[in-house]
Amino acid sequence: MKIMVIGGGGREHAIIRSLRKNPEVEKIWALPGNGGIARDAECVPVGATDLEGIRAFAKSHPVDYAVVAPDDPLALGCVDLLEAEGIPCFGPRKNAAVIEGSKVFAKNLMKKYGIPTAAYQVFDDPKAALAWLETALIPIVVKADGLALGKGVTVAMTRAEAENAVREVMEDRKFGSSGDRIVLEEYLEGPEVSVLSFTDGETVIPMISSMDHKRAGDGDTGLNTGGMGTVAPNPYYTPEIADRCMREIFLPTIRAMKAEGREFRGCLYFGLMITRDGPKVIEYNCRFGDPETQVVLPLLESDLLTVMRAVTEGRLAETEVRFSDRHACCVVLASAGYPAAYEKGYEITVPEEIWPHVLVAGAAEKDGKLVTSGGRVLGVTAVADTLGDAISAAYARAERVTFGNRYMRRDIGRRALQAARE
Ligand code: AMP
Ligand code: GLY
Repeated sequence: MKIMVIGGGGREHAIIRSLRKNPEVEKIWALPGNGGIARDAECVPVGATDLEGIRAFAKSHPVDYAVVAPDDPLALGCVDLLEAEGIPCFGPRKNAAVIEGSKVFAKNLMKKYGIPTAAYQVFDDPKAALAWLETALIPIVVKADGLALGKGVTVAMTRAEAENAVREVMEDRKFGSSGDRIVLEEYLEGPEVSVLSFTDGETVIPMISSMDHKRAGDGDTGLNTGGMGTVAPNPYYTPEIADRCMREIFLPTIRAMKAEGREFRGCLYFGLMITRDGPKVIEYNCRFGDPETQVVLPLLESDLLTVMRAVTEGRLAETEVRFSDRHACCVVLASAGYPAAYEKGYEITVPEEIWPHVLVAGAAEKDGKLVTSGGRVLGVTAVADTLGDAISAAYARAERVTFGNRYMRRDIGRRALQAARE
């Protein structure tokens, strides 16, 4: 079996590591991969959004199966294009990827099918949005409709902040055409839970829950990032909450997509908030989360490729998806300054025995050395019988990975640990 994985971050590295456990996998190409992924796959210098480059590579190589991991190629229709070349894929088609690609679509879907989410208003005119804001309840959340590299959401604690966000998105076009429309959304409170799920459009099987740490600084302070670390499972996701999510959110979403003629096959990510009124959807992603995947897949006991192919072929109902009852932690090592300006090009050293626990996000090979090339450089993971042990082991390993300007949060998992003890 020869597999092509589209993408080049820590999530893709985690997916590749899991796929490699299957002895039938003879070859993995990563497009484009990165300097660390190169240890586990052959990296091909074709960008994840270079659809023509991806098609050309697929046509000239014996690719049996493709995994399209990032949101951008999914939204652009990478799966549709590869399927047209006869290559079976893991990932939703373009018409289903819109569940992440357009927040307006997602909100309207939830409204139409009674799926619990924050109340909202949609605007395509900044003047109307600003007028509506004058009497809106504060805090309020401003969301650009389209993809914005995870930066399209502002949780505004004051009216001025909300107005500013509307102007930046709609008038200054900070995210280009992604800001043609905006959603102004009710502010919700409660712990957040990420639930990734496998779905073939009929059956939905949630993976183990996880908790992301999105802010750059300790104690959830500072700027929003792509994610500074994760733990799994998430203690706020109790069996009762899981049960409600299945009945009120997961199944209704899968059925709604099917009813709309947008059958979703792949990994559907539910970003949830556990409010006083129960679980509500904060966001959908049409793909594995990053860095959630780095803690979820190490706990998957079933074979990932077998599950992925069952999703592609619509056989998920008859497929076992089993998770370990252990705990996982991933600490992200970043370049100091991220998500704002940072320096790169520093040499990374990883002791050989630590490598199996390292998933690389932003590193390049230069003169035979591995050097930092991104804001988030790599994730260091650990699996243990208790959450406390997983956190300690991940930090102990993280200390042994060094590079210039290395920065990490020191409190990944602390809140989860407190919640688990309550
Ligand atoms: P997103 O970019 O969609 O992941 O949103 C970023 C973060 O904004 C989420 O993880 C939440 O912490 C926060 N957020 C989004 N929507 C709301 C909401 N309606 N109420 C409160 N916080 C929100
Ligand atoms: N960790 C959040 C995301 O992947 O969007």
